[in-house]
Amino acid sequence: MNNFNAKEEILKLSEEINKHNHLYYVENMPFISDYDFDLLLKKLQDLEIQFPEFAFEYSPTKRVGGDITKKFETVGHRFPMLSLSNTYSEEEIIEWENRLKKLSEGDLEYVCELKYDGVAIGIRYENGFLSRAVTRGDGTQGEDVTTNVKTIKTIPLQLKGDFPLDFEIRGEIFMPLESFQKLNTEREESDEALFANPRNTASGTLKMKDSKVVAERSLDSYLYGVYGNDLAIDGHFESVDKAGKWGFKVPVSKNRFIEKVNSIDGIMNFIHYWDKERNKLPFEIDGVVIKVNNYAQQKSLGFTAKSPRWAIAYKFKTERVETKLESISYQVGRTGAITPVANLEAVQLGGTTVKRASLYNSDQIEKLNLHVGDYVYVEKGGEIIPKIVGVNTSKRDASTSFVNFIGNCPECNTTLVRREGEVQHYCPNDTFCPPQMKGKIEHFIGRKAMNIDGLGAETVDLLYAKGLIKTIADLYDLTFDQVVELDRMADKSANNIISGLEASKKVPFERVLFALGIRFVGETVAKKLAKHFKTIENIKIASFEELINVDEIGDKIAVSVQNYFLNEDNCFLIERLIKAGLQFEIKEKEGSTNKLEGKSFVVSGVFNTFSRDEIKEVIESNGGKNVSSISSKTDFVVAGENMGPAKLKKASSLGITILSEDEFIQLFN
Ligand code: IVH
Repeated sequence: MNNFNAKEEILKLSEEINKHNHLYYVENMPFISDYDFDLLLKKLQDLEIQFPEFAFEYSPTKRVGGDITKKFETVGHRFPMLSLSNTYSEEEIIEWENRLKKLSEGDLEYVCELKYDGVAIGIRYENGFLSRAVTRGDGTQGEDVTTNVKTIKTIPLQLKGDFPLDFEIRGEIFMPLESFQKLNTEREESDEALFANPRNTASGTLKMKDSKVVAERSLDSYLYGVYGNDLAIDGHFESVDKAGKWGFKVPVSKNRFIEKVNSIDGIMNFIHYWDKERNKLPFEIDGVVIKVNNYAQQKSLGFTAKSPRWAIAYKFKTERVETKLESISYQVGRTGAITPVANLEAVQLGGTTVKRASLYNSDQIEKLNLHVGDYVYVEKGGEIIPKIVGVNTSKRDASTSFVNFIGNCPECNTTLVRREGEVQHYCPNDTFCPPQMKGKIEHFIGRKAMNIDGLGAETVDLLYAKGLIKTIADLYDLTFDQVVELDRMADKSANNIISGLEASKKVPFERVLFALGIRFVGETVAKKLAKHFKTIENIKIASFEELINVDEIGDKIAVSVQNYFLNEDNCFLIERLIKAGLQFEIKEKEGSTNKLEGKSFVVSGVFNTFSRDEIKEVIESNGGKNVSSISSKTDFVVAGENMGPAKLKKASSLGITILSEDEFIQLFN
């Protein structure tokens, strides 16, 4: 392909990908399959590697992130980012509307919208390209989070249609409930602290240094306000409608996310509808916003010191009930973490009967100054389990008793520990504490770990109760006769379990490593460790420095891995699993070496003997790392024919060794 054709093709592909991105993320109407979409993206990525001079800054390939923000610069807002006055009272909405009618000339039209519970953002577009995204900050200046915002698929990098040449759009960035739950499940699996709610998670994510992590967290957005000079737009509703045509995800009337009304009845209708329906939304809202539609009327109403007179937020009351705290029980998790749980006098909340509430940890009990027998306030937030938000101290009497957090494990009586810097208490008896033992086995047999057919938590309970299994290694000593003896166990099911265990001996090393349940070693970390160290023995003997030198392995994980192998019971367990025939090393492909260990490569251009992917595979199977762009950290560039001149120039100016295809092959001769 020549330069001219490449440029044309890159532009065509970018446009096509942008179109499908919009259909998928904004319109919710995908037109092609995920597979076909990935093919298009891959084609564009390949072309951009081959012709980097045409890989433009706003390419849809940039959505995957990768750029690091060292420091978020503080920047001033061109238009102050005000907040809204808000109320929980319908009366005050009526008063607000009456006041506006007196202050305004002519009839008033209102736009009712959802009040998204996320982080406010202001994004400037110049000549149709996203130029800067800034958080609200203190309203006059905020932080530049452009790199991270560019990874959010519903925020266009390049606009379409009849957009103003220079304007700012404002809206809310939030984390959909599904993404939030998925993220917390992943964190639970790798034993990391859970996030409290979607709003704080969205806000924390937006301030992360590594935009690749931001891209993976699936943030979403709704844009609700256009700001600029001489916009040639008369009102708010029109501005939102137009923004939708330029490519933004905006609220639309079809699903009542936005509604134009002209009376207080219309406003109340909207409020009542969403108070009832808000639990069905795939994201959280904390109220609705009512705005005067017409810009001229907005202007004449003006602002108070903090907020516009022409808008108000009605906030929903979170349903809160009062009930009695009867007792506190303590749950022991797979990792020994102790979670206090409040046992409550049954009460109705949000359509369900509530008997228990999470208390998270001892700090929470202290903060609430809880006494058993207290009357407590319970709320249901974004989380599924309700929480105690306060105590009705006026009802506290002499029969209540101060809560002393337990000092010993409720299951095995071992003295609990609380490690420095952690909020949770732990039972350190990870080899003999029953829920920890059962929890470890359940984790081991899980779908993402050993995935053992026919074996579930209930059977583990039965096997454990009968004393047939105490550790994961005992699973491999089970016989058909022992299993079939269990309550309600048919021959076929027992057979399934035994053959499932047999089949699990072929599960690759990285999944076995994850299945062991080492603290902080989730799926991804297990993959990285397995790939880097190749065998369990190498991991066991690795020094702290060697561990933290692996991509994405930090101090916390390294310490946890080393602690795991310092425990002789764990080493003995692994020996038994090795004897049972499980995979404890990576099956090397033929011809693999460590020859390129620690070296990073950029492969670019077209090759004669091998394809580009084959060359990349050779690099990886010999310990090297493939990266997509040239930087001072690149060691080698493998240059095929047609490699772009800009790339070659960059490589030579950085003093990087450039290898031809033949020179690369000779490395292995
Ligand atoms: S309008 C001058 N509309 O609520 C008015 N705000 O205190 C500017 N919010 O920080 C805001 N949904 O982050 C507006 N549909 C909506 C909103 C909304 C959520 C947030 C916004 C702002 C806060 C207002």
